[in-house]
Amino acid sequence: MASSRLKYLSLGVLVFQTTSLVLTMRYSRTLQADGPRYLASSAVVVAEVMKIIACVLLVFKEHSYSMRALNSILRQEILHKPVETLKLAIPSGIYTLQNNLLYVALSNLDAATYQVTYQLKILTTALFSVSMLGRRLGVYQWLSLLILMIGVALVQWPSESPSGPEKEALSAGSQFVGVMAVLVACCSSGFAGVYFEKILKESKQSVWVRNIQLGMFGLVFGLFGMLAYDGERVRESGMFQGYNTITWTVVALQALGGLVIAAVIKYADNILKGFATSLSIILSTLISYFWLQDFDPTSMFFLGAILVIVATFLYGYEGKPSPNPSRA
Ligand code: C5P
Repeated sequence: MASSRLKYLSLGVLVFQTTSLVLTMRYSRTLQADGPRYLASSAVVVAEVMKIIACVLLVFKEHSYSMRALNSILRQEILHKPVETLKLAIPSGIYTLQNNLLYVALSNLDAATYQVTYQLKILTTALFSVSMLGRRLGVYQWLSLLILMIGVALVQWPSESPSGPEKEALSAGSQFVGVMAVLVACCSSGFAGVYFEKILKESKQSVWVRNIQLGMFGLVFGLFGMLAYDGERVRESGMFQGYNTITWTVVALQALGGLVIAAVIKYADNILKGFATSLSIILSTLISYFWLQDFDPTSMFFLGAILVIVATFLYGYEGKPSPNPSRA
């Protein structure tokens, strides 16, 4: 069936995209440390622009490369349906908030605690899928989600406790702020993803048109963010300061990520997206061990990896998930 092929294709591309993004970001941090740094807020804006351009091209292709059809669909669906368009401001605003919360989290927690805690989003996503989409999960599927969460947490467990001064620098108060920020981000990640899925599956409109609507708000919020955080520096040295080939690669992979996540939400769902990103965490860790040699896997890592793989098979074991009433 074509849709089932698209489902596995989109999940496969997501594994590839997440893995290469993590490796490129790590590479850019470890091997390209010197020289002026690019502004993260500018990278967000550029990725958003790339995403919108790619989506416009995809809509153009969907309409047999007719400029007239492209023009009329963009007018009809985006300009003439302001209420439909405004609906996309909700996930877009939440994603912007989420990206900032994760920044707050990382400033108040060590990276490992942050990553382990953020895995709770697997469960929040499942809870929102059940409550907002009426999806029904069997016992084996809940169990597999629990195993998946524990597995990813183990995979990311720090190999040794963080060095003394770093740990001591984080006061109990700031730990609390950090953990609260991650917990709110877990809820927002689950909610925004499932809300976008609901919009996609409740209407016939192309996923790429929806993504243009999402991207437009993302661009506006991103520009505000860039001017608020880095306005001074942008006025001094421009928004492309510190960009090099590797920066453009990271930005392009991030834009591709937005497209692939949208395709996964359309053809598969947010819960399967969790499995794909979990598998890619294992893959990127293994590649970074064999290739960049900057990681030494512990037995915790292998135990976690086995749990993730077992969970992936267990999720599919009980047969198909009950039909989703909101799916056309
Ligand atoms: O952690 P989580 O899976 O919630 O992150 C999803 C990310 O994907 C967010 O940073 C969001 O901006 C991005 N996204 C996107 N296009 C979509 C859906 C999500 O760029 N259609």
